[in-house]
Amino acid sequence: MTASEIDDESESGTDGGARIGFGIDIGGTGMKAAPVDLATGELAGDRYRIDTPQPADPAAMAVVVEQLVQHFDWTGPVGVAFPTVVRNGIVRSAANIDDAWIGVDAAGVFGAATGGPVHVLNDADAAGVAEMRFGTGRGRGGVVIVLTFGTGIGSGFFVDGHLAPNSELGHLEVDGVDAELRAAASARGRDNLSWEQWADRVQRYLTEVVKLFSPELIIVGGGASKKPDKWLPYIDVGVEIEVASMANSAGIVGAALMAPTSVA
Ligand code: BGC
Repeated sequence: MTASEIDDESESGTDGGARIGFGIDIGGTGMKAAPVDLATGELAGDRYRIDTPQPADPAAMAVVVEQLVQHFDWTGPVGVAFPTVVRNGIVRSAANIDDAWIGVDAAGVFGAATGGPVHVLNDADAAGVAEMRFGTGRGRGGVVIVLTFGTGIGSGFFVDGHLAPNSELGHLEVDGVDAELRAAASARGRDNLSWEQWADRVQRYLTEVVKLFSPELIIVGGGASKKPDKWLPYIDVGVEIEVASMANSAGIVGAALMAPTSVA
């Protein structure tokens, strides 16, 4: 399923009433959920958050997923944004989550918890889908790269609005080091950096991204995008950079858009 298929379907198929979907955004510290108006990308209810259990293993997280859907009495299909590579529902990496997830059928585990069909996709892919459909990337063609700067660096890679999933550009090796270890938002506090010092690292990272992929546009999201004036003025990589506009809801909205029967 691609972003443009979502475009096609979400314009039609409405009967005048709002079509509501449901998204869950799973991160290393919090698991957040909300119903979503699929036609507007607005949350259709207050977001509800539960701390990510530690260890963040499949059984413990399935319990929280069940609590999240129960909180909203939601029984329909669910989209889940997950901070790993996810192919056909199976988790293929675990940079910032318990290793016990590798090889697990996350769609099956969460489907058993919710009692309905579940689609699981990478968290930055989900945020990117939302930005391309309703946010900063709306209507933008060519190669657009959405980068989320948080605990790690996530990436959503789009060509003419179509998602190429699991791009994992946060793990580009830059100067011999996994990029997110130096340039994620979390590295600023961990390494005691000023905004300018951290921006230098981001500049170095983005220079590599641009060298390899020559995007039309880079959209920056995640925690660091809440204070863009602190660091964006230090960045110049010769490519348009815009701030994500869907703030905290991008992962939830993108997940809801990609839920199994959202495009039925
Ligand atoms: C993971 C990605 C994820 C990103 C943001 C990275 O460490 O490898 O899959 O999208 O963190 O959560």
